[in-house]
Amino acid sequence: MCGIVGYVGKEPALPRLISGLKKLEYRGYDSAGLAVFDDKELCVIKQAGSVNGLETTTQKLCRPNITAGIAHTRWATHGEPNETNAHPHRGCGNGQACKIQIALVHNGTLDNFETLKSLVLKRGHVLRSETDTELLVHLIAEVYKDDPVLALRTALQQVQGTFGLAVLMAGFSDRIFFARNGAPLALGLSLKGNFIASDPLAFRFYTDRMVNLEDGNLGWISGSDYQVVNMNADKVENEVETIPWSLETAEKGEHDHFMSKEIKEQPQVLTQALRGRLLDDGTVKLGGLDSHQELLRMMQNHVFVGAGTSLNAGMISKIFFQELAELSADWESASELANQKRPIFPVQTAFWAISQSGETKDLLDALKTLKQQDLPCFGIVNKVGSEIARLTGKGVYIHAGMEIAVASTKAFTNQLVTLFLIAMYLRQIRGLPKINWHDRLLADLRKLPLLVTEVLNRENEIIDAAKRYAGYPNFLYLGRGVNYPVALEGALKLKEIAYVNAIGYSAGEMKHGPIALIDGGFPTLVIAPKQDDYYSQITTNIQQIRSRRGRIIAVATDGDDEIKNCVDDVIWIPQIDYYLTPILAVVPLQLFAYHIARLRGLNPDKPRNLAKSVTVK
Ligand code: F6R
Repeated sequence: MCGIVGYVGKEPALPRLISGLKKLEYRGYDSAGLAVFDDKELCVIKQAGSVNGLETTTQKLCRPNITAGIAHTRWATHGEPNETNAHPHRGCGNGQACKIQIALVHNGTLDNFETLKSLVLKRGHVLRSETDTELLVHLIAEVYKDDPVLALRTALQQVQGTFGLAVLMAGFSDRIFFARNGAPLALGLSLKGNFIASDPLAFRFYTDRMVNLEDGNLGWISGSDYQVVNMNADKVENEVETIPWSLETAEKGEHDHFMSKEIKEQPQVLTQALRGRLLDDGTVKLGGLDSHQELLRMMQNHVFVGAGTSLNAGMISKIFFQELAELSADWESASELANQKRPIFPVQTAFWAISQSGETKDLLDALKTLKQQDLPCFGIVNKVGSEIARLTGKGVYIHAGMEIAVASTKAFTNQLVTLFLIAMYLRQIRGLPKINWHDRLLADLRKLPLLVTEVLNRENEIIDAAKRYAGYPNFLYLGRGVNYPVALEGALKLKEIAYVNAIGYSAGEMKHGPIALIDGGFPTLVIAPKQDDYYSQITTNIQQIRSRRGRIIAVATDGDDEIKNCVDDVIWIPQIDYYLTPILAVVPLQLFAYHIARLRGLNPDKPRNLAKSVTVK
């Protein structure tokens, strides 16, 4: 959450800072600000609202030939999203408690916020904002003597929590100082100047050469050089890498929103996830797991850990592992697992950490708990080289490409196809006989991208349905078996981007409470593919809703006349094996939520109160 970009060099800094912030805005968009050296004077401009607003203000206030600055787009944790709490933050400037003028931007949160706050107040600092970030400025400025990096090292030793920092210090107008612990930061290197950013996306337009910083790294960049040290002041030589993706992957192109683009990319990214992994002879090859076969063969019990959409993928994967790989499996919410005092699991349990961003704090904390007990953890991650990919050190990338819209879509379907492949792989390496309908199942798996395209081609029907239902304030989503978590996922999409109350439930649980909600003004969306093992039970649930005069939309299999006659609206999906129905059924639910959000006049890419990558607790 939150985005940082900084530039120092020969070229104008402001366009680089603003374009960088626009690229990072998906990570937080409640306020924005920047600090620059204007004729060696440190100036800060910040305000509530979007980067566009900040751009207009800086165009009025700043000289265009400024060549060094740092900038930030915020997702509020401590204190309201207003101008005072926006970054950059400055010290108290009374010349005593703060020994140097500083402007600082921060991603992350300080765990010992209260202790540090009373400490700096006791020492005579004057705080302006309600943020934890401002404390960092006072701590650094207080210990400064003549060496900025030493001041950072000394001050940060008192800090518990996560930070990615970019700092300007008066008297050093040709340098940006930085530090990293638990919040990503990368340097971008170019002949015309150097960058620092929380995501290389911010500087990709200007360079493809970057250095990934590690936890405990700090240092500086100038226009032509950089230095990285560790907390003991030893020099660190991080590898200079070439960014493997082009900027077009992060552009909307002809689409109105990133969410629509990402929904429509699903056939192509599903193909990417299957390529080289599902072989012509029906075997599954997973390079990321091959060298861990021995370990995996011993694992009788598997636990999926994740948050939000990724947890929904984990819930479905539990069924893949149980029913296709004949293994004991379960799931855990990352935030709950992270807080468990003494989590106890059967011996020979493997954990599968599922995350699009690879940065989710709840999942990182859960993984740290598991790693302390030396339990084997595998990553199912989209973002290559991310924290979770590095912490697990083994696993399978889902290859969904960059996901920018806040609501996760293509990552979900690629997580599912990847975990499905893993279930088949585990069956294979454990030497179990092929499941009875193996060939048919794999033929359906191969057809998936084509069938998802078919669903996407029916968008107009989904738009019509969205028009009929956009005015309803409440929805119940129901499914059974593999499609119960799809109901949760569909409801999550509607809540987060259309701000419509949507409750996802197992269809069997409905009669144990939620049925009391049903009346003519409370529609139910039922996922009821014909090939679902639970089809007859679902149709019974549909009858129960009808008898209470509830309106029903069904996601049903092409040609299912039986269902057509007992619901109000049908969203059709093609026939596919039961275990693969979630991947087809979720696509219309993503489109339904997207179009309801649009019809309600909302921007689906930037839902209120949310941001991509939840890097706070
Ligand atoms: C919902 C959504 C979130 C994320 C969750 C975990 O559309 O995007 O629920 O799924 O915050 O994020 P990752 O997968 O990045 O760990």
